Amino acid sequence: MQHDNRTLLPEPDAISASHSKRVIDFIAERIEEAGGSISFAEYMQHALYAQGLGYYAAGAKKFGEEGDFITAPEVSPIFGRVLARQCEEVLGDLGRGSILEYGAGSGKLAVDILTALQERDALPERYEILEVSADLQERQADFLRAELPDLASRIVWLDRPPRDHRGVIIANEVMDALPVERFRKTADGIEQLRVRLRDGALAMTQAPAPRRLVERVESIEEALGEALPVGYVSEISLGLDDWIATLGDSLQAGVAFLFDYGITRREYYARDRVDGWLRCHFRHHVHNDPLLLPGVQDLTAWVDFNAVAEAALSNGLEVAGFSAQAQFLIAGGLDAEMQGFDSLPVSRQLQLSGQIKTLTLPAEMGEHFKCMALRRGVSGMPSAFSLADRTHTL
Ligand SMILES: C[S@@+](CC[C@H](N)C(=O)[O-])C[C@H]1O[C@@H](n2cnc3c(N)ncnc32)[C@H](O)[C@@H]1O
Repeated sequence: MQHDNRTLLPEPDAISASHSKRVIDFIAERIEEAGGSISFAEYMQHALYAQGLGYYAAGAKKFGEEGDFITAPEVSPIFGRVLARQCEEVLGDLGRGSILEYGAGSGKLAVDILTALQERDALPERYEILEVSADLQERQADFLRAELPDLASRIVWLDRPPRDHRGVIIANEVMDALPVERFRKTADGIEQLRVRLRDGALAMTQAPAPRRLVERVESIEEALGEALPVGYVSEISLGLDDWIATLGDSLQAGVAFLFDYGITRREYYARDRVDGWLRCHFRHHVHNDPLLLPGVQDLTAWVDFNAVAEAALSNGLEVAGFSAQAQFLIAGGLDAEMQGFDSLPVSRQLQLSGQIKTLTLPAEMGEHFKCMALRRGVSGMPSAFSLADRTHTL
């Protein structure tokens, strides 16, 4: 069911409204060029990444309290500090190596990891960032230069994935930002949801799904052991396969830690989840109208972690661990990071305990967010999965 939440959302300011109008005009041209409609995945690609226009490719502040949503590194440096311990383990096993971060957002996670590794005398050879948004790359560079001036020479932005990465790969909330296809099951087969123009405005439409999408839906039904009900709408990230394949090509030896909100395939395609997992974020309001304010609101879809594992295996990677974020942080050294907590001023204690609650409580980020680690050329499970590895649930 599509809820109409428009009335509950804050009004966009004049700059945002006129920016979104330009994005709609751009998408309208793409729709006309394509002969009347584009797939939802193509719409999402333009709305998020069209050069100088898309949500991630244009100027507004996205992360943190003034933005539209908050991510774990923006909640607390503790997230990056625990992850730094995992990086230290992997780099120690390899003897040397670098860290590659996909989609570094504001640059906050990079600052927290490098600061912690510097304190622990365990800096990587290089900290590489692969960021699709030129606008965010610029912001990251300004932020990192200001925060870590003495490490500037180790931090580099890549314009394509490296071929022979040894070390750690990190991606926090990148997979949920990859464009997804939306499909609907009908009595006659599988439809692809598409976007068209109706009276000059964006509107959803549908068409028989292309072969690759049909095959994916059928393989999901096969894995579930039953057909999805007629009327069922959900998402499939076909781009995820390509993204993992590229990551697999890059990782010569080491571990990739992929964090995102997501679930197993059985939960993702549960019979009662009839409206899928696509969500829209605008000024800390969550709703489900993806055609509203393109370029100004974030579009995101939860991750099917079975799809991540399958893509990894077919690209020669192994799953090294899978757990909820809370267990990852607890087993990964949260306690050790809290040493000296009692001697902090009470105001700081309250601030830190609030941050830890947000990162770990099940109703906050503790359970919906998962970490899946993929490895090649190294053995063993990273210690952050020692408390509760859920790989067997996939
Ligand atoms: C939801 S934001 C998360 C930002 C940051 N990791 C954080 O946790 O705050 C998604 C980020 O992924 C980037 N991104 C999306 N697709 C990407 C890709 N294929 N390669 C690299 N970065 C990508 C976006 O530009 C953005 O920086």
